[in-house]
Amino acid sequence: MRIELLTLFPEMFNSFLDSSIVNIALKKKAIEISTIDIRDFAFNKHRQVDDYPYGGGAGMIMKPEPIAEGIKFLDIGKNVPIIYFTPQGKLLNQKKVRQLMENDRIVIICGHYKEIDNRIRDKYVTEEISIGDYVLSSGELASMVLIDALSRLQEGVINDIESAESDSHEKNLLGCPYYTRPVNFDGISVPEILLSGNHAKIDIWRNEKSIEITKKIRPEFLNNEKE
Ligand code: ADE
Repeated sequence: MRIELLTLFPEMFNSFLDSSIVNIALKKKAIEISTIDIRDFAFNKHRQVDDYPYGGGAGMIMKPEPIAEGIKFLDIGKNVPIIYFTPQGKLLNQKKVRQLMENDRIVIICGHYKEIDNRIRDKYVTEEISIGDYVLSSGELASMVLIDALSRLQEGVINDIESAESDSHEKNLLGCPYYTRPVNFDGISVPEILLSGNHAKIDIWRNEKSIEITKKIRPEFLNNEKE
């Protein structure tokens, strides 16, 4: 999967791309990531990328031309999603991540300042996504969230494919509790069943725990209210 990011802050991605699962995905060539500096497409001598909003009000707006030039530079075909991260977007969930996995190329516009000029949204953006009901100062952070979620699902990135499939949210359920050695930690023991070696019973226990936790924390998932 090729992911191209239009950003004003390419350097924000450096340590992110150098670490952990995303780095493994890059090294295995399961994903390919390029950052395109929107400022390279600014047309005046001050390399201006933002301006005051028409109609007044606080905050600066990202100008449309450098973003549009960046998109044209990428020479995107018809079926490539152009994602814009915004708190106004549809909430990202695992189902959406799985849907996006079906693309071999995606483009992400990282917003900054108050907003981007709405004509970019109207003309180019195919999907608006939010990562939660709060406001971030940049789309860069949100796009890292998506890149991480996509990277770990690419074939060959996580050793044990079951590991991804048993994660929270994969089956409209939150995950169950996990334990590792030692058996006793600070006077608390690992649940007996996990030491029994009876994998059928362990599966049942884990499923029951998942349902119990989901009921308590996100009951709406059990009513299939999650999109
Ligand atoms: N940009 C600013 N806030 C955001 C959010 N909650 N989700 C995605 N992009 C954002």
